Amino acid sequence: MNNGLSTDHLLGIKYLTKEDIDLIFQTADSFKGVINRPIKKVPALRDVTIANMFFENSTRTKLSFELAEKRLSADIINFSSGASSVSKGETLVDTVNNILSMKVDMVVLRHPIPGAALFLSKEVDARIINAGDGTHEHPTQALLDAYSIKEKLGEVAGKKVAIVGDIKHSRVALSNIYALQKLGAEVMVCGPTTLIPKHIAQLGVRVEHNLKEALEWCDVANMLRIQMERQDISYFPSIREYTMQYGLTKKILDGLGKNIVIMHPGPINRGVEITSEVADSDQAIILDQVENGVAIRMATIYLLAAKIDRV
Ligand code: CP
Repeated sequence: MNNGLSTDHLLGIKYLTKEDIDLIFQTADSFKGVINRPIKKVPALRDVTIANMFFENSTRTKLSFELAEKRLSADIINFSSGASSVSKGETLVDTVNNILSMKVDMVVLRHPIPGAALFLSKEVDARIINAGDGTHEHPTQALLDAYSIKEKLGEVAGKKVAIVGDIKHSRVALSNIYALQKLGAEVMVCGPTTLIPKHIAQLGVRVEHNLKEALEWCDVANMLRIQMERQDISYFPSIREYTMQYGLTKKILDGLGKNIVIMHPGPINRGVEITSEVADSDQAIILDQVENGVAIRMATIYLLAAKIDRV
């Protein structure tokens, strides 16, 4: 008997159980069926209103949440910090409470400060979904990544996944580590010493500094971009040198003697962490990840909406 999610909010993968993730995946399977029908919509959340609050730039996550909400027939409002009264000094809590007083039930929050979603969940009366909080977590990205691995390889358990690049500044890396481990995968992080947090091995991940060794080991390589916007000092001599050591080319892939799956959360910096030839190859499932993002976000919103008192 399934009693729904164990949590009232989606703040991070850290706070989900394996059963929660399995339930989100099962629900996403149903919604994937819906979004591939001629009429890509269900009336499930006609009585729910959701505010999408983005304090940081986004293409994929923002549009994917908005589409997921529309496919569920929820009412939505979109908030961008640049065009708001935040610039006049209003706090996050005051801003959100003003929005909630317009009878909003759920907030999807992207914010540059780690812990912003957790903080908000304690301060306001609404379901909160973390759409990326600084360098901390990006739970729906990790869910759609793991779901895409399952779809491609049949299972996540037992698979070897290498996360390559700027691990230090990546919320995608941390959320992926939690999600993949909860589902029984082995995880390796690979990158220059300066871009790998010192104590990351304590999370039970392997650490590798040689790209070819990482690729020889893994079934799936998740290539991350360098998060220049979060770096106030230089962590490597130049982009060119980073690319020479960690850029994934077709020549490297073809030299492996096996077919690995290539993932990327986007946005891609073509020619830096991955060449166009690899990003557009049959081994890459980058656009499948984006497609699955809508089903995963529909599932997450739907399951959290069940926690709202709607009478
Ligand atoms: N993957 C991801 O979070 O992309 P956006 O920053 O475009 O939302």
